[in-house]
Amino acid sequence: MNSAVADIKILSEVQKRGHEQVTVFYYPQVGLKAIVAIHNTVLGPALGGCRMRIYTDETQALDDCLRLSEGMTYKSSIAGLDLGGGKSCILTDPGMKEGRRELFRQFAECLNHLDGRYITAEDMGTSVEDVMVMREITKFAAGFAREKGGSGDPSPWTARGVFNSMQAATERKFGSKDLRGRRVALEGVGHVGMYLLKMLKEAGAKVVVCDVNKAALEKAQAEFGAEIVPTTEIHGVDCDIYSPCAVGQTVNPDTIKRLKCAVICGGANNQLLGPSMYDAVLAKNILYCPDFVINAGGVISVGGEYAPGGWNETWVSGKVKNIYNTLHRILDESEKRNKFPEVVAIELAKERIKETAEKKRSR
Ligand SMILES: NC(=O)c1ccc[n+]([C@@H]2O[C@H](COP(=O)([O-])OP(=O)(O)OC[C@H]3O[C@@H](n4cnc5c(N)ncnc54)[C@H](O)[C@@H]3O)[C@@H](O)[C@H]2O)c1
Repeated sequence: MNSAVADIKILSEVQKRGHEQVTVFYYPQVGLKAIVAIHNTVLGPALGGCRMRIYTDETQALDDCLRLSEGMTYKSSIAGLDLGGGKSCILTDPGMKEGRRELFRQFAECLNHLDGRYITAEDMGTSVEDVMVMREITKFAAGFAREKGGSGDPSPWTARGVFNSMQAATERKFGSKDLRGRRVALEGVGHVGMYLLKMLKEAGAKVVVCDVNKAALEKAQAEFGAEIVPTTEIHGVDCDIYSPCAVGQTVNPDTIKRLKCAVICGGANNQLLGPSMYDAVLAKNILYCPDFVINAGGVISVGGEYAPGGWNETWVSGKVKNIYNTLHRILDESEKRNKFPEVVAIELAKERIKETAEKKRSR
């Protein structure tokens, strides 16, 4: 261990966050250095993507893995899935080409050692092709092509869940879930953002978009008539809904001053800089829709591969539709408990796990 890792007290960290298991795999023959964090398996096997990136040091990788796996527990729980939370991080250049296949075959062997306690999927730096390589060795890799019996691209489902959430949020703010004429500032028109833009335009909303990718902007404008603003101006757009669909932490002390929206509702993970933003959001009377609740469409679709009878559209679509009801329930409870929506969402997710654990114990 180097000194950076020695600084992080793994057992104390795991105890604080409630992880069940953290495993490190090291196979220098194929350049594999990986951490698998299993946060909770009370509801079912821990599902979460495999992130591949160069980390500044091992502490950063461990922190990423612990934090993200904990988040997956709450996301799956609140989405009503019989799945737990996990995540894996491979500490390698995500652009590597040579030896990539061997690396993922080895990682798949590692997953077999975990015997289904953790199921991996595509994430930042990994692809459906990597998942397909792992499937040659293990059944504990999800999110592969529809034509091969998998769940396919999760993005349309994520976008649908966010769209349903926008309807619930506008219903609460303006008394109607009709999005016609509503102005939406959409940050990022990638996989999720572009599907969301299409749904919003079909619903009659006026959408202002930004992106760092010129081709994406051209498509948004040409195909959906989106208005374009520079990335530096999106937070100051006078709108009903600000929808972050690019990167995390875009709601921070700098942007909150400029936001002119009634609702924050988007697909990105970790939209708030942290709990320090709760008061600032409330002070502006903005309704915040907890990101891990409303962007669960993707995990619902991927998790659908493990549903009884395998992936099927009706099952997935029913659960994604239900995000609308879940958000209403969270916002009701938020008022009752006088707590920020994100806090309540985590409480409800934990309550479901606790009840299930108690039921299992009393059997
Ligand atoms: N794909 C899914 O199903 C899914 C599920 C849950 C959460 N998410 C989260 O939603 C977000 C978007 O996911 P995606 O799959 O659409 O990713 P993506 O990479 O396809 O799209 C992201 C888009 O944001 C743009 N972008 C990057 N930096 C930007 C910036 N500073 N300002 C404006 N635009 C910027 C990129 O050019 C790209 O077009 C991510 O935070 C992701 O973690 C995605």
